[in-house]
Amino acid sequence: MSSTIAKPTARPVTPLGILAKKLETVVQEINQHPDLPESLVTQIHQAWRLAAGLDPYLEECTTQESPALAALSEKTATEAWSERFTQGATVRPLEQEMLSGHIEGQTLKMFVHMIKAKKVLEIGMFTGYSALAMAEALPQDGVLVACEVDPFAAEVAQAAFGESPDGGKIRVELGSALETLQKLAEAQESFDLVFIDADKKEYVAYFQMLLDTNLLAPTGFICVDNTLLQGEVYLPAQERTANGEAIAQFNQIVALDTRVEQVLLPLRDGLTIIRRR
Ligand SMILES: C[S@@+](CC[C@H](N)C(=O)[O-])C[C@H]1O[C@@H](n2cnc3c(N)ncnc32)[C@H](O)[C@@H]1O
Repeated sequence: MSSTIAKPTARPVTPLGILAKKLETVVQEINQHPDLPESLVTQIHQAWRLAAGLDPYLEECTTQESPALAALSEKTATEAWSERFTQGATVRPLEQEMLSGHIEGQTLKMFVHMIKAKKVLEIGMFTGYSALAMAEALPQDGVLVACEVDPFAAEVAQAAFGESPDGGKIRVELGSALETLQKLAEAQESFDLVFIDADKKEYVAYFQMLLDTNLLAPTGFICVDNTLLQGEVYLPAQERTANGEAIAQFNQIVALDTRVEQVLLPLRDGLTIIRRR
């Protein structure tokens, strides 16, 4: 059986994407009710266009991704992830929606340029989109260490890195991220930028280890993905999933930690930037 399937449509996984989808459903429903006041119908259509139009506009106004990143995005979108999981071939369920994508990739790439990073650590590589995006901004002697636990995702990523002129800057560490962090800390490694994007329930442990060791350089930055967790962190607590609860706790722990200052940007599913005070 082929390992690829026809490109499935990605489900919305950001607060804005979910809102736009819900408004689209409302618009379809109100179209079945010709008796509704015209002003209400107009307002709902405007709300839907306002929400649904933002992401495409951001795409339009942001520098195009490289051919290597576009190919990686396409490869990830057409992979039969659900099939791999049911066959028990993967450690944890993976899905195409995990890929950060064009806008977030370009944002991380900009950060690497802005701070002139030479050493970057990624915790949670998946098929390598954000790793490659950041590597593209590193100087020739720059290094990106990428942690990933799933062998198949790592294989897809390594193949993509082999197709890119910047792939040689990336070193993949296959295994549990916490064990890899321990190993890197013992080897006295230190990073200018760290991107956290692995197991949400381990975010606090990653954060503490980065700060308690020299893994985060004194002037380094941590970027943390999914800190809005599809809106769950600000919606009623009793409706949260385990990941939503883990991120809500993580956000609170960071906010109370006097060693750092931080900002939560509403980019995609939430991106928190943290630095040592
Ligand atoms: C959201 S995806 C990463 C997406 C990637 N940064 C990108 O932009 O395309 C999370 C990844 O973390 C990996 N992961 C989850 N738990 C992990 C752990 N404990 N150690 C290492 N990797 C882990 C998963 O296998 C998955 O590939």
